[in-house]
Amino acid sequence: MNKLSVKTARDETSIGQTASVNGWVRTRRDSKAGFSFIEINDGSSQGNIQIVAPGELANYESEIKKLSAGCSITVEGQIKESGGRGQATEIAATKVHVWGWADPEEYPLQKKRHSFEKLRQWAHLRPRTNTFGAVARVRNCICNSIHQFYQEQGFLYVNTPVITASDCEGAGEMFQVTTMNLEQIAKQELEKLNYRFDFFDRPSFLTVSGQLEAETYACALGKVYTFGPTFRAENSNTSRHLAEFWMVEPEVAFAELSDNMDLAEAFLKRIFADALQKCPDDMAFFNERIDESHTLLENMTNIVDSDFVRLPYIEAVEILESCGQKFEYPVSWGTDLQSEHERFLTEEHFKKPVILFDYPRSIKPFYMYCNDDEKTVRAMDVLVPGVGEIIGGSQREHRLDVLTGRMAEQELDIDHYWWYTDLRKYGTVPHAGFGLGLERAVQFVTGMGNIRDVIPFPRTPGNVDF
Ligand code: 4AD
Ligand code: MG
Repeated sequence: MNKLSVKTARDETSIGQTASVNGWVRTRRDSKAGFSFIEINDGSSQGNIQIVAPGELANYESEIKKLSAGCSITVEGQIKESGGRGQATEIAATKVHVWGWADPEEYPLQKKRHSFEKLRQWAHLRPRTNTFGAVARVRNCICNSIHQFYQEQGFLYVNTPVITASDCEGAGEMFQVTTMNLEQIAKQELEKLNYRFDFFDRPSFLTVSGQLEAETYACALGKVYTFGPTFRAENSNTSRHLAEFWMVEPEVAFAELSDNMDLAEAFLKRIFADALQKCPDDMAFFNERIDESHTLLENMTNIVDSDFVRLPYIEAVEILESCGQKFEYPVSWGTDLQSEHERFLTEEHFKKPVILFDYPRSIKPFYMYCNDDEKTVRAMDVLVPGVGEIIGGSQREHRLDVLTGRMAEQELDIDHYWWYTDLRKYGTVPHAGFGLGLERAVQFVTGMGNIRDVIPFPRTPGNVDF
């Protein structure tokens, strides 16, 4: 028998076919006329398909009338035009096979709506809800667009290591990786802790970024991107930080900051446009049910169709200083911008995405290209309404003497980065790249308020269940 997904079975073109459809029951209601309506969903689309199960079915009394939310079934029958509202088709069932029951006294996802906080405790079941199904589909669409965008432009996908001895961002927020027995060491004296006995002979960590390794491949292959999990042990319990998140990092040789901005803008527009075009039902759902002002679709469409603002950091500081707004953290030249400042610029002042560039060198990592003013580096952050910083990147310092000077300034062990400095010794070339936080991109596209709700199993301080 023809197997159809709920999505395909919902399509008018399936009318008349005899088919089987699998899914999990959302609701069942019995008609006085002796038959039942069952709504099932299999994750293929936002909408359910309605099953009409006649009383004549052999298991009607024994099973069908006991179906409740969460039960898994396979239905065989004919796809028909539906008389009901909101759906083109329904299935007139000739057979309903029950695979698994879900005790209605225990199954957490009953009809009642649960808060997102509550649903986080059931991260294994929440993908069965409308919201988390939609998030999973849109996240998938974005991942697909990421690969398509770079592949179409001739970038090579490279896999950079998850375990590393380097701290790319220099913020020291790293998770250590060791095979040493910590319990045993804790019982011994500290002097006995010797990394010579550890797996990698030296302190090693989960990577905060694939950038440094991506640079080596860009300086051989021209245009590359890495896309994988990254880890930061920052103890910030905010709605925009995870301890484990996914980052896309393109890196381009023979390129400078303006090329980097052009790439970032085209890239973001592409993934936004694809979400609008390829996930219309899910995007309509987010617009109606998640975005309180119901302007998500309109805003996204405007962003795709208009230019981002490009603004030097110094001008941003001037705007913030003279805007008359009271901020929790004061701003002046040389301070790092806080989320409240970034959001003011992109949400209140410009009301569109803003690319800030040329930041003070004292607040940025060692690898960024130093401008001639000796005060700023060619860094850029892309800020978007509702989320704030979504991309961070820069032109890289390709001059050996300036780079080693910066490393000394930041007290990095230059020997340790010998392979990174080698790139500047042999055929050095201006190059640039950036990192997009995948979850922040998904937050922006879906309007979901908390980053914990756009990744299947969020890792935050204290949370490592599932
Ligand atoms: O600005 P960041 O720290 O830049 C880098 O890591 C560079 N090495 C990237 C590069 O140039 N190749 O991080 C890049 C992006 C941020 O803009 C943000 O979207 C995201 O990664 N990000 C996080 N997302 C979730 N949770 C966290 N803790 C994040 N930290 C950064
Ligand atoms: Mg950043």
